[in-house]
Amino acid sequence: MTSPSNDSAISIARTLAGTNPGKQPSRPTSTINDPQRSKSNSPRTPVHISQHHELSVAEQAALDLENSAAVEQAQNEIDIDSGADARSMSSLGSESGYGSDTQGSSSTSLSSSVRDYAFEHGHRYHKFREGTYNFPNEESEQEREDMKHAMMVNLCQKLHFAPLGDNPQHILDMGTGTGIWAIEMGDLYPGANVLGVDLSPIQPEWVPPNVRFMVDDVESPWLRPRNHFDYIHGRHTVMAIRDWPKLMRRVLDHLKPGGWFELQEIHHYPQCHDGSMPPDHPVTQYWAYIIEGLAQLGVNFNATLLLADMMREAGFVNVTTRIFHVPIGVWPRNKVLKMVGLYWRTILIDGLDPIATGPMTRGLKWKKEEVDVWLAHVRKAYMDSWVHAHMPLHVICAQKPEAGVDYSAESYAPEGMADS
Ligand SMILES: C[S@@+](CC[C@H](N)C(=O)[O-])C[C@H]1O[C@@H](n2cnc3c(N)ncnc32)[C@H](O)[C@@H]1O
Repeated sequence: MTSPSNDSAISIARTLAGTNPGKQPSRPTSTINDPQRSKSNSPRTPVHISQHHELSVAEQAALDLENSAAVEQAQNEIDIDSGADARSMSSLGSESGYGSDTQGSSSTSLSSSVRDYAFEHGHRYHKFREGTYNFPNEESEQEREDMKHAMMVNLCQKLHFAPLGDNPQHILDMGTGTGIWAIEMGDLYPGANVLGVDLSPIQPEWVPPNVRFMVDDVESPWLRPRNHFDYIHGRHTVMAIRDWPKLMRRVLDHLKPGGWFELQEIHHYPQCHDGSMPPDHPVTQYWAYIIEGLAQLGVNFNATLLLADMMREAGFVNVTTRIFHVPIGVWPRNKVLKMVGLYWRTILIDGLDPIATGPMTRGLKWKKEEVDVWLAHVRKAYMDSWVHAHMPLHVICAQKPEAGVDYSAESYAPEGMADS
């Protein structure tokens, strides 16, 4: 990363408490720490599965039970609700209930070179290092990213798994997107400086005082000091990074000795445990095309499965993987997982066109009209209620060796994580 004073790294840090930059008020957040916090300190309205306030003791106990069953089942086997799609989903809220506000616009003091956008096939893309990332950044995509965040924290029930202690000092979020994770980390660790870096200037201005955002390319050399960060995080970046081994060496270099690296990445290939999804199902074919299109563009979308080994090869120690199954649709019996599945299916259906357009037109050279016709099949297929599909989420943590510690004899692993 380059420094904020460099042309290619314009800081859009904002500490304007009390001002509203016009950023979207209706994006979902997870509010995992304090449900009131989002209302008082953020322009975003929380959309949270687990409303921990205004519950009786018995209701709270039932909710806690459902939550812990969700975490446990998501890592083992998800119980199927046999009447899933027949039952009304009204108690869970409809997809339209997430709300969408496309009126606002952000005004930042970014230089025009990074604030400009590129347009193609009706989508808006980043202009800085144009063409590097193949997915759009328009408002509807930002809302989809925030819904993904809400889905993730309701599934995992935490923002991170690496053991950071109570007082991490410097945290980096690579490919921060809308910055929602970085902002919640800033709230969770008020003593830490949280830096979010992204190619797109799509982060809000009104953020906690310890959170900063910067437009930059994490695959370019970083001018931050070596041995600087306590924790470096990346989430949903597997479709972005071209040279993982190189990036991992850079991460290792810029972490403090003993610092932690964590990636939370979904392997975007639908799977099922009960044979209910035929191999030629349109949703499977859709993801096969995306993977092929991205490969043509120099991105290995299957890299999720390789990340842990790459971390070890880069020199990290205590590499551990935890796998969650993210259901697609409302087929789980558990209420939390049913909601996670509703979120994830909504995210995938809303993302059909923005996800497919770049890889299929740029990578596979399909005409946009051909893509549109094909997507109509896939849209319908996502609603097949007899299919009990999921995608694996890999949470991988790794530590930079402490100077002078012999890790060959080390058997340490973060709590609750299986050695991968
Ligand atoms: C799918 S979004 C995930 C956003 C965020 N990590 C989250 O989980 O909410 C991936 C983000 O990575 C950013 N990105 C892609 N390549 C990048 C690069 N080389 N440097 C910095 N950001 C990048 C994109 O602009 C996009 O906002």
